[in-house]
Order: sequence, then C-alpha cells, then structure tokens
Amino acid sequence: MAEAARQIRVRDLKEKKRRGEKIAMLTVYDATMARLLDRAGIDVFLVGDSLGMVIQGHETTLPVTLEAILHHTEAVTRGTKRALVVADMPFLSYQVTVPEAIRNAGRLIQQGRAAAVKLEGGRPVLEVVERLVDAGIPVMGHLGLLPQHVHELSGYRMQAREPREAERLIEDARMLETAGAFSLVLESIPADVAKTVTEELSIPTIGIGAGPHCDGQVLVSYDAFGLNVESVPPFAKQYADLGELMVAAARAYAEDVRQGRFPALERHLSTPAAGDTRK
Ligand code: KIV
Repeated sequence: MAEAARQIRVRDLKEKKRRGEKIAMLTVYDATMARLLDRAGIDVFLVGDSLGMVIQGHETTLPVTLEAILHHTEAVTRGTKRALVVADMPFLSYQVTVPEAIRNAGRLIQQGRAAAVKLEGGRPVLEVVERLVDAGIPVMGHLGLLPQHVHELSGYRMQAREPREAERLIEDARMLETAGAFSLVLESIPADVAKTVTEELSIPTIGIGAGPHCDGQVLVSYDAFGLNVESVPPFAKQYADLGELMVAAARAYAEDVRQGRFPALERHLSTPAAGDTRK
C-alpha cells in the first residue's frame, strides 16, 4: 500500500531554502483542483484573492470579501492532504485595525483550516504581521506589485525599477522577516532585486514575474492551465490548454445529446441496481 504523504509545514519551506530545493506553489480555489494538484506534488496551495478575477469575473481583486476567501479555503482544505494551504487576506480585512486583522486571520485558520495567511505590503503591515505571529498564525508577506493597491499604482506595472524604490523594497523585506513572516511573495520586480532579497533573507522568497533567482515560484493556476482567457500576465507560462479541451468536450457532449447518442439506452434498462452507482 502506498505510504500517505506527510503534510508540508511552514518549517519545511525554510528547510527547502536551506537545502537549495525550489518550492512550487500554485493558486487553488476548490477541492477537486486541490486533490489533483496534491497528487502532482505541489508544495503550497494559495487560496489567492485572484479568485475575484478568475472565479468571480471581476476586473480587480478589490471586491473579494473575507467570506469568499473563507468559502474557497474550506473547499481547498477539504481536498488537501499534503500541501501547505495559505489563505490570502483580502482588501480591508487587515488594514483597518490590528484586532480586526487577528479576528479575520483567525477565521481563515480556525474555520477555513488554512495553515497560514498571506497579506500584502511592507512597513504599513509590520505591526499586524508581528501580532498575527504572536497569536500563532504564520504569515506569508507579499512585496513588489501589490494588486490590492492597483489604483494607487495606476495599474499592474513592474515595481522597484528605480534604485531608491528597490532599496526600499529590500528594506521592507528585511523588516517583514524580522516581524516574523515565514516566507515572502515577490511580484513583478526586476530579477536582480529579487536575487538580492533572496540572498539577504533566511526565509524563502516565492517569485511571480520576478525572475529565476527566488527560492520558489507561484502562478495563478488558471493561467498555468490555459483556463483564463481574459487577462494573462506576460510572465505567466501556460503548461496546458485545458480551456480549449473543455470547449471541445462540451461541444462533443452537446452534439451527442442533439444526435440522441447520449445517454445510451442499455445503461438505463430496469436491471437490478442499474444506474444506482457513481463511477
Ligand atoms: O491572489 C493571488 O493569486 C496572488 C498571487 C498572484 C501571488 O496573490
């Protein structure tokens, strides 16, 4: 009998960095996808607020609520045995007051059964990070392009291109590590800035549009699998075209129904228990 896979913990990610092993992270939003990607050996599942765009059809992540993240986190943790599940804290769920941030993160851990939370920003969120860690909630930071700041940043553009901006980001990264973050997402920044952060910190960096030097990489799964046809970022790599496969499968099904080929009569005869079981 195959041995059950051991659940990945926060400490395992730090160990991976120490051993020079890269970390593979993907966004996951439901139990079925969680089961499949667990079989594939993905290390970290992020229930990202990107669900606002790829699941809910919004143009930004800003309309995503704590209830929505909670709903999807519960589904993902039900389908996960091995990966570390990180729940994204949505816009305004951690910026208003520290007690509110603790209560909201606590729900994602207690009710959603996530193992950690992720939140965006540097200096402005340091106190929240410290207090969450004090409360026993592991925190993944997120620097560079911060999608929850899309209006302030005037769009989804690469960050930290100027030396002063890069210096500030590197300093923010050090501060997040000191505040207790166990890992850091670096989104849309130059590869050399990501390399410096990765070399300076002892916690793992996870890049997205930040070049090859990070300790791990994350992609929005819908981009990676060709399910998102709307706004795919230029740095995303598509590993499959499941969108086109689904369209073809749905066309074949519709054609079978229209031609009377599905369902087949022999599966629906009144033999004992016919049609009673699911495959
Ligand atoms: O919400 C999300 O999917 C993210 C990743 C892009 C890192 O934050």
